[in-house]
Amino acid sequence: MRRTINTTSFPDQKPGTSGLRKKTRVFLQPHYLQNFIQAVLNVAAIGDRPLVIGGDGRYYNREAIQIILKMAAANGVRHVIAGQAGLLSTPAVSHLIRMRRAGGGFVLSASHNPGGLEADFGIKFNVENGGPAPAGFTDQVYAESRRIAEYHILEAEDVDLETPGTRRLGDMRIEIVDPVAAYADLMERLFDFERIRGLFAGGNFSFRFDAMHAVTGPYAHEIFERRLGAAPGAVMNGVPLPDFGGEHPDPNLVHAWRLRELMLSNPAGPDFGAASDGDGDRNMILGRDFFITPSDSLAVLAANAHLIPAYPDGIVGIARSMPTSCAADRVAASLGIPCFETPTGWKFFGNLLDAGLISLCGEESFGAGSDHVREKDGIWAVLFWLNLIAATGRSPAEIVGAHWRRFGRNYYTRHDYEAIETQVAGTLMARLREMTGGLGGRRFDNYICASGDDFSYTDPVDGSRSEQQGIRILFSDGSRIVYRLSGTGTEGATLRVYLERYEPAAGDLELTSAAALAELSRLAGELANIPELTGRTAPDVIT
Ligand code: G1P
Ligand code: ZN
Repeated sequence: MRRTINTTSFPDQKPGTSGLRKKTRVFLQPHYLQNFIQAVLNVAAIGDRPLVIGGDGRYYNREAIQIILKMAAANGVRHVIAGQAGLLSTPAVSHLIRMRRAGGGFVLSASHNPGGLEADFGIKFNVENGGPAPAGFTDQVYAESRRIAEYHILEAEDVDLETPGTRRLGDMRIEIVDPVAAYADLMERLFDFERIRGLFAGGNFSFRFDAMHAVTGPYAHEIFERRLGAAPGAVMNGVPLPDFGGEHPDPNLVHAWRLRELMLSNPAGPDFGAASDGDGDRNMILGRDFFITPSDSLAVLAANAHLIPAYPDGIVGIARSMPTSCAADRVAASLGIPCFETPTGWKFFGNLLDAGLISLCGEESFGAGSDHVREKDGIWAVLFWLNLIAATGRSPAEIVGAHWRRFGRNYYTRHDYEAIETQVAGTLMARLREMTGGLGGRRFDNYICASGDDFSYTDPVDGSRSEQQGIRILFSDGSRIVYRLSGTGTEGATLRVYLERYEPAAGDLELTSAAALAELSRLAGELANIPELTGRTAPDVIT
C-alpha cells in the first residue's frame, strides 16, 4: 500500500553541498531522511532508468536503505540496483551508475567521519555521469526540501538485502548485486594485474592495506588477496563495522595509526602500505619509513601514467584543487599538457573529466582519481602505485626520490585549527582578504611576496563562477601560504592553513617537512594573527 505522510521537518542542508552529513540522531528524527529522499526524487528525473543504492556499512545504513527502497517504489521508480548487505563504496556507486546507465544513485556515508548512534551519518546523491550532483541540482533539492509537505512510501515488509538476486517491491524490481565484482573488473581493465601478480609472487615484496573497518574491506580482500595474490592477512581491519571499531575511518597518519606504526620507524616493516576511508574514496600511500604526501602522489602518478595500461598514450591534462601543492603543475608543464587549478571539492573535476580536458585529478586531502569514474577512488590509487612499483622495480621511496631529483620538491603541510568560533574565523578571513592586495613586493625575512588574492574560479566548461575560495599568498620562489575555512566541519569553523615551499632539483631534498616549512609556518601565523584572534598557539591537526 502506498501511503502519503505529512511532514513538517526539513533537512537543513547547506545550499551548494551535494548531500547531508549530520549526527546520526538528527537522521533518526521522524521524517528527516524521508524529506531529503522525497526532495531528491522530485528533482531527479529517473524515469525508466535504474537507481543505484549503497553505503559504507555504518550504523543506520541498512535501515536507511529500506526507507529509500520503499520510497522509490512509491514514487514510481522502476528498477533499483543495490549492493549486497547494503554495501557499495562511493567509487563503485559512480561506476555502477555509468556502467548501467542509471538515472543516479544514493550513497549512504559520512565519508571519513566516525559512525555509530552518537557519531555521524550522511547521504548524497550522484547524478547520471556518476559524479556528485552539481550546485544547480542541489540548490533545487534544497528548495524542494523546504517546500514539500508530504512524502510517499510503500507499506511493505523489509527487503532481503543479504543475498544477490532479483526481488520485487510493488511494481519495482530490485537487483541485489555483489558490491565488488563490477568494480574489480574495471580495475583489471585499467591496470596490469599480470605484472602486479608477478610482484607478489616474487616473494620479496610485502604489502599491507588498512581498510579501517570500513567499506573497502571486501574490495581489498577480493582485489589484492584473491585476484592479485597478496599474502593472506595483507588486508588489515577488512570487515566493515557499523562503528568502524570506534575509530575515525580517515586515512592519515593520525587515524590510520596501526598502519603508521607498522610502516614508519620500523626497518622490518612492509615495503608498501596504504589505507582508505569510510566510503573508499580517499587514499594514503606509504613506503617503508616513508610518507608520501597526496600532492606528491598525484604528481608521481601523472609523471608515470604512461607505464599504466589505462594510459598507453599518456594523459591529456591534470587538475588539482587550489590548496594542493604545485608539484603536479611541473609535471604538466614538462608533458606539455594543461594543469587546471580548481576550488576545493571533487565536483569541479567532473566537468573537466566529462569534457575530456583532463585524465587525472587530485586533492591534498588524500584524494586522487581519473576519468574511469566521477569520484576520487582509494583502491584505484593503491593499484596505480602497485602497478608503478611492479613496472619500475623500484620502492615507493625510490620512485618519489627520482621524481624530486627531476622536478624539484614541493615541501608541503596542512595545519588545521578546529572548532574556532565562527565569527572569529570570519573576521580572520576578512582581515586577510583586505590585506592581500597590498602584499606584492613586500619582504618577510627570506620570503618576498609576489602577490596575494582570494581565489576565484571560472569553470572552463560551463562558465560558472566560484568566488572566495581561499586566500593565496604567493612568494617569488614558488612558495605559498593558503588559508581557507572548511566546508565540511560540523562544529564551529575549521581554519585550514596550507604551507608549501618549492626546492629546486639541485637543492636540499632531504629535509623534514617541519624543518623546511618552519619559517613559512611562523609567517602564516603572524600574517593572519592566528594566536591573537583565536587564542591558539598551535594547530590541532598537522597533516
Ligand atoms: C575536505 C577536504 C576536501 C575534500 C572534502 C570532501 O573539505 O579538504 O579536499 O574534497 O573534504 O572529502 P573541507 O573540510 O576542507 O571543506
Ligand atoms: Zn570519503
